[in-house]
Amino acid sequence: MQRILSGIKHTGQLTLGNYIGALKNFPKFQDEGEPFIFIADLHALTLPIEPETLRTNCRDLAAFYLAAGLDPKKTTMFLQSHVSAHAELNAILQNYLYMGELSRMTQFKEKSLQLNENAIGLGLFAYPVLMAADILLYDANIVPVGEDQTQHVEIARDLVTRFNNRYGKILTMPKAVITKVGARVMSLSDPTKKMSKSDPKGDIYLKDDLKVIRKKIMTAVTDSEAIVKYDPENKPGISNLLAIYASLKEISVADAEKEFAGANYGTFKTKVADIVVEKIGALQERYHAALASGEVDKVLAEGALKAAKVANVTLKRVQTAVGIL
Ligand code: AMP
Ligand code: TRP
Repeated sequence: MQRILSGIKHTGQLTLGNYIGALKNFPKFQDEGEPFIFIADLHALTLPIEPETLRTNCRDLAAFYLAAGLDPKKTTMFLQSHVSAHAELNAILQNYLYMGELSRMTQFKEKSLQLNENAIGLGLFAYPVLMAADILLYDANIVPVGEDQTQHVEIARDLVTRFNNRYGKILTMPKAVITKVGARVMSLSDPTKKMSKSDPKGDIYLKDDLKVIRKKIMTAVTDSEAIVKYDPENKPGISNLLAIYASLKEISVADAEKEFAGANYGTFKTKVADIVVEKIGALQERYHAALASGEVDKVLAEGALKAAKVANVTLKRVQTAVGIL
């Protein structure tokens, strides 16, 4: 049975990028293996965050997991901090990744630029170590993530090779799986940039009012060629909208292109807006229902117990391998 593991670090608003690149894909794994899907709350602390925001975000994301179709009977859903093995394995694994390789991580370079040079937390630097611990604790074979996280999965793979060379076959080699369509949803106001919670005009937030979502799509930056064609280099705006459409319709980009052959941009954008509003609208309804049901905390508590059982076995194996009594 394949083990699948993924998580989201919910620091700001969840975006359509999070939905298409991550959230929407998780439920598919429920029938293909044994999924562990968690909320990376310890990772959320790597950038400054208000305690109340962190608390709210965690429940919120759990409700979005349920809304996206995760079934707690099939998926072990939990908070990273509730399973102490994550922090314990992190303490061991930090000795097997090196400062040189961590300093080359794109995410570290980008995020540390936003901070005062004298106040870059060690946790931000060591982010991939904890992420490796998250993955390796569950002997995960498959790690579904958006494109921006593949570098972190790669470094976890390097760690497995290094560790197993030293101690024998202790850790399981994971593999990143990236969705083909929509792995990188771009900003609607500047389609050369990733959609990423910091630009209210270019981002579609999962909690946005549906009318606002429609307006954002209708005013998305395109080009003046008036041909609906997938060409990310020369037509980044149109290509982004095509990828969003194809992904939400579960069709290929080529099929989406065919559908809009000869259509003008207004008609095309209206169709894109229709599907986004339909999907996000339904998601929002299920999200509100999940929060109102009062189930969230119970699901997370049960998930943590199930996750800890699996994680503690791996932790013990690693502790023994390195010589901890
Ligand atoms: P983040 O919100 O950056 O912590 O990312 C959470 C998950 O969503 C990760 O798997 C990301 O790769 C994915 N993700 C975030 N933004 C995008 C985007 N614009 N397009 C596709 N996937 C994304
Ligand atoms: N880094 C991921 C993000 O930015 C969250 C995450 C933490 C994760 N640990 C992970 C994803 C392990 C996959 C596997 O959202």
